[in-house]
Amino acid sequence: MTGEPTPLQSLLRGRRSIRRYLETPVEPEKLRACLEAARIAPSAHNAQPWRFIVVDDPALKARLTGESFTGIYTGSKFAAKAPVILVLVAKREFVAHHLGARIQRVPYYLVDMGIAGEHIVLQAEELGLATCWMGWFNYRKARKVLGIPRKYKVMARMPVGYAEKRPRREPPRRTLDEIVTYNGIERE
Ligand SMILES: Cc1cc2nc3c(=O)[nH]c(=O)nc-3n(C[C@H](O)[C@H](O)[C@H](O)COP(=O)(O)O)c2cc1C
Repeated sequence: MTGEPTPLQSLLRGRRSIRRYLETPVEPEKLRACLEAARIAPSAHNAQPWRFIVVDDPALKARLTGESFTGIYTGSKFAAKAPVILVLVAKREFVAHHLGARIQRVPYYLVDMGIAGEHIVLQAEELGLATCWMGWFNYRKARKVLGIPRKYKVMARMPVGYAEKRPRREPPRRTLDEIVTYNGIERE
């Protein structure tokens, strides 16, 4: 890359998964902008399988984090301090989940969920908010506490708030040489 980084490049470079949050509330318009960013994300067959459960009620959030961050998930407790927890669920649809996956052998709804979630992350970053993708929590407990019916698959959650501390170091990444090949890829 040569020259000054573009605003998007700076945003992508500067984003970090945040694991220390302030209790400062998130402005509703900022949260809405993040959700709007997810709403307009692309999806296979424009299926838009995503649904977002905003957990901002303090008592419910305490129950959710208290019950789903126990045992082997205790290390995830850092998220409890964030004022908002988003729970990302996918609506199970026959065409997008089963037919597509059977023919193409790729469950595209998972791709869709990832794209929508990352739209949230990047919009949050631009607005000065902090987030962290989280897969390490007790899904069964989360389903129970929030009363999520079986037709929705619980995919991930994401604390949203203001960072108390941002990690200074960028986690290691593979080099482009390690991850990009041109016109094919080696067998081994
Ligand atoms: C699908 C997914 C699930 C993740 N789950 C967790 C998690 O449960 N707990 C956690 O602390 N970080 C989690 N992370 C964050 C990663 O650890 C983090 O993205 C990675 O270490 C790179 O750091 P960075 O996001 O600051 O660049 C998850 C990230 C993704 C994309």
